[in-house]
Amino acid sequence: VIQSVTARAVLDSRGNPTVETDVLLADGSLGRAAVPSGASTGAREAVELRDGDPGRWHGKGVDRAVGHVSGEIASVAVGRDADDQAGLDAVLAALDGTADKSRLGANALLGVSLATAKAAAAAHRLPLHRYLGGVDARLLPLPMMNIVNGGAHADNPLDFQEFMIAPVGAQTFAEAVRMGSEVFHTLRRDLRAAGHATGVGDEGGFAPALRTAREALDFVVRAIERTGYRPGEDIGLVMDPASSEFFRDGVYVYAGEGVRRTPSEHAAHLTELIDAYPVVSVEDPMAEDDLDGWRELTARVGDRCQLTGDDVFCTNEKLLREGIRTGVGNSVLVKVNQIGTLTEALATVATAHRAGWTVVMSHRSGETEDTTIADLAVATGCGQIKTGSLSRSDRTAKYNQLIRIEEELGESARYAGGAVLRRP
Ligand code: PGA
Ligand code: ZN
Repeated sequence: VIQSVTARAVLDSRGNPTVETDVLLADGSLGRAAVPSGASTGAREAVELRDGDPGRWHGKGVDRAVGHVSGEIASVAVGRDADDQAGLDAVLAALDGTADKSRLGANALLGVSLATAKAAAAAHRLPLHRYLGGVDARLLPLPMMNIVNGGAHADNPLDFQEFMIAPVGAQTFAEAVRMGSEVFHTLRRDLRAAGHATGVGDEGGFAPALRTAREALDFVVRAIERTGYRPGEDIGLVMDPASSEFFRDGVYVYAGEGVRRTPSEHAAHLTELIDAYPVVSVEDPMAEDDLDGWRELTARVGDRCQLTGDDVFCTNEKLLREGIRTGVGNSVLVKVNQIGTLTEALATVATAHRAGWTVVMSHRSGETEDTTIADLAVATGCGQIKTGSLSRSDRTAKYNQLIRIEEELGESARYAGGAVLRRP
């Protein structure tokens, strides 16, 4: 039984305030969750409530959201059974009363939702992945490690937001992390040798002053080879262009590269990259408002490349159902704060799996030391996680948690590897 619900403002990885919530049960079990925050957010995401007072935190304060947790939300949550996650989440959504959670804020609701799950797990003396996923939860995800940052996550001219490596040929999750780290350090040396800066962007990847996707992909492929791995067989490439960010008036405006591409030209460009490099997955290849483009690209390459919807679905089960029905991609990114409660995020995962779609559990560009998504990846058995680079503790915390989970599962642990990308 929930005894108290409290919240505070803490710092996220960009140094902005975010909501951290504690749920305390009558038996003394504590659950704590800190809410992440995006920079290239989808238009249909649940609303992150910010104070908007320019005199404090440059308008980014979360005092109102914190107040909602300890006020209205606590008053309905206290006394409830923490094991009834779905019941609590329904009450939270109803209390907010809006479709986009804009009254109380998704950042207020999500902290309570996740902290309650963690408190309940603690009360059962179970790790979170086991509490939520049961004894069958033993699939460690294929990590998509973001080693070159661009777009809204860095100040360089690179138009595409993320270039990732996925150790498809590793035997264990711990080995995948080692392979990723080795490539990351080779890439640092290569970039430095080529005269590039080796500072990192929001997700811990390098942010060199490159202009084109090909330049970035060439650096990554070379780093994989020079480390001693085979591009494709051992390590696949993943991109997140975050295309909504540079889609203006029906045209994809590549500011860094200095070209404009129509939706068909943009899709053709992506198809060339997918065919020229060992690209196994592309997230948000097309903009959230370019559904025709999405369908065109899916028809073109959907049989040989995972196409993951982030901005276009916003972890929203309704939007996902529509996308499944109309052929928009073949995979969904799941970010719990895009929808605001754990139950709704899990429903989105279940809907994707029923349709034979793949699911990628994901962080946000603004993160904290909270590692809940690592457990969610294992609990749902989704087999894929995207949680940034091999540097910055806000990113490595999730990898480290998965290393612990793999160790704890022992012999029964299985690593998803590249097989998870193949659709039936
Ligand atoms: P965001 O970016 O967290 O800044 O929205 C991550 C992504 O686009 O996947
Ligand atoms: Zn994305």
